[in-house]
Amino acid sequence: MSEETSTLGTYTITVLPGDGIGPEVIEQAVRVLHAIGERYQHTFQMHHGLVGIAAIEAEGQAISDATMELCQRSDAVLFGAVGGISGYEGSKTRVRPEEALLRLRKELELFANLRPIRPFKALLNASTIKPEVLEGTDLLVVRELTGGLYFGRPSEIRETPQGREAVDTMFYTEHEIERIIRAAFDLSRNRRRKVTSVDKANILNTSRLWRYVAERVAGDYPDVAVDHLLVDTCSMQLVRRPTAFDVIVTENTFGDILTDEAAMLAGSMGMLPSASLGTRQTAHGLFGMYEPIHGSAPDIAGQGKANPIAAILTVAMMLRYSFGLHQEANVIEAAVEQVIESGYRTEDLKEADKPVVGTQEMGRLIVDALT
Ligand code: NAI
Ligand code: MG
Repeated sequence: MSEETSTLGTYTITVLPGDGIGPEVIEQAVRVLHAIGERYQHTFQMHHGLVGIAAIEAEGQAISDATMELCQRSDAVLFGAVGGISGYEGSKTRVRPEEALLRLRKELELFANLRPIRPFKALLNASTIKPEVLEGTDLLVVRELTGGLYFGRPSEIRETPQGREAVDTMFYTEHEIERIIRAAFDLSRNRRRKVTSVDKANILNTSRLWRYVAERVAGDYPDVAVDHLLVDTCSMQLVRRPTAFDVIVTENTFGDILTDEAAMLAGSMGMLPSASLGTRQTAHGLFGMYEPIHGSAPDIAGQGKANPIAAILTVAMMLRYSFGLHQEANVIEAAVEQVIESGYRTEDLKEADKPVVGTQEMGRLIVDALT
């Protein structure tokens, strides 16, 4: 591994394409990065690593220590997707590909998962929700990613004389809640300054602490409007009046469920990027890991028809959040929108009378629109 230190204009990125359509869509995202680098005179130094099934087969682990170290040393990580047809386990070990994701999130302390949802005008008809309900939707879900129900202990199934029983634990410290709530308030200041904190405070103690902390932190942001919603009400409001939201901040499990629901507002899983952030600073800003929200899509892998737009928009998020390159990020988003407006669609967005293009062709159209 090289020892170069980052200089202004040189950005080090670890690229982890993964499995299934991961490598297909990441190839297009990398093309876009190269095009932006050329146009704006930035050097994006990319190091590729194995992750998921490919890593299990070659290295016996879903992500090796050497690849983790590569990530630790870079300014950002670009991640495709991991996993195969459900239930896959590596042939040599019983390691699961998803372990790579959990290890990356935990060891890189990426506690904030950001999923912006802003359906393109030209795609309002691609959603199952009525266009007049969707029009104007522009929201950001901030999901806590390293605590709560998915990490609390005990978590087990046990035998008792009366039969089996199982337990999971929802656990949060005040510190864990405070840092994610602050992240949401800070992000809202670059948006419409409205934060909706989502909990289940009528039932859960973790949620009561969550709401208490949210109210206390809100005191430090008098310029930001805050409201509190119960998670069940929020799931209803998301499809009833999505335009009412700006920033939503919530616990790990609630966020997992609400973000899949919110994804449908944008029409296809193939359209949505995400960023996972912590507090680690690099020479260029905040370290982060960037990935499309979709998985490895084994049903369409190897056929050249995956939609690369989520992966390409992921690169825009990287430029904005980790490198502070706002203009470059805007240019990528505008290029994507222009290609969609010109009528080009990948298979997942297929509409009668619109030309359907493959993964590579969609990538090329977007690169052409950039330059
Ligand atoms: P998936 O997101 O891979 O696919 C769901 C459906 O959406 C499929 O019909 C797929 O063809 C379609 N789709 C997804 N991305 C697309 C794109 N870019 N263009 C066009 N169509 C697209 O979720 P699924 O099928 O539940 O999981 C497949 C594998 O992916 C599993 O092994 C799962 O564990 C893994 N997975 C990995 C994730 C990650 O690496 N972050 C996230 C979600 C699932
Ligand atoms: Mg999910």
